[in-house]
Amino acid sequence: MLKNMSCADIKSNQDRVRRYFDYDSSRFAENRWLGSDVAREDYNITMEYLLDFLDVQDTDEVLEIGCGPGLWTDLVSRRCHHITAIDISRDMLMQARKRVQPENVTFQQVNFDEYDDSRTYDKVFSVRVIEYFSDPLQTVRKMCELTKKGGKVVVVTKTSPTLITVRAKLWGFLRRFFLRKGESILEPSLPMAKILPFRLRRMFLKCGCAKVDVYPVVLRSPLFIHGRYSLPWLGDKLQHKYEMAMLRFFNFLSRHAITACAPVRYLLLVFSETYLVIGQK
Ligand SMILES: C[S@@+](CC[C@H](N)C(=O)[O-])C[C@H]1O[C@@H](n2cnc3c(N)ncnc32)[C@H](O)[C@@H]1O
Repeated sequence: MLKNMSCADIKSNQDRVRRYFDYDSSRFAENRWLGSDVAREDYNITMEYLLDFLDVQDTDEVLEIGCGPGLWTDLVSRRCHHITAIDISRDMLMQARKRVQPENVTFQQVNFDEYDDSRTYDKVFSVRVIEYFSDPLQTVRKMCELTKKGGKVVVVTKTSPTLITVRAKLWGFLRRFFLRKGESILEPSLPMAKILPFRLRRMFLKCGCAKVDVYPVVLRSPLFIHGRYSLPWLGDKLQHKYEMAMLRFFNFLSRHAITACAPVRYLLLVFSETYLVIGQK
């Protein structure tokens, strides 16, 4: 996203991101993680990957970037010594404070680009956040600098390229062309730059991580996304039946991808909605 961006452009992007998530805060958890069978499965699979790779210990000091409504903060806070959860959006933090009240959590409203901390952490993580940063290399560098030697950095982010976006773009094009209405359901309404998995992996290596691995997390059929039906002429009942069958199959794949060898994992990335990068310092 950084190409030819001035400081004013970056600031204005950050303002748009903050305003968007302030506005979306009361619905975000429901819409994204809890509101449909597909969304709940996305949440469960992401949770399994996150907890497995973070491997949180009860002595760990943890930093979470872009905690949003605090679903991951809640999970991690039950396992660690202390978690600092930051977010640029005041309203997202209000949601998070309602959800998470343990004494070992510190919330802070701050733009991570401006976050100033002299401590280092055992684990640093973010879920679905890095795609909103104008300079992801700088973000990864800062995450790595804030991680202790021997600690872990885990990033979960949207995949690109993937069959899901290819389908959505094709669908949007056909709709506009034939029906002259509607937009692709995946077109973002805020500045978002998905990062190629291999590019993100290189960034981790460049920023001082010794061992870096990439895993597809949420694997999905390009046809049914977040419980939105895509084949209206089939009727809701039949679509639901297909959606559930697809969901079961792709969930099975998602859960087994964690133990797959690297070439199979890389192949599965094109079916993934999100992927995870883990770096060991
Ligand atoms: C898609 S939401 C994900 C929220 C949460 N991690 C989750 O998975 O439920 C992205 C979050 O990142 C936050 N965010 C975006 N840019 C940020 C920045 N520069 N500094 C801190 N937080 C940021 C947003 O306010 C929002 O809460």
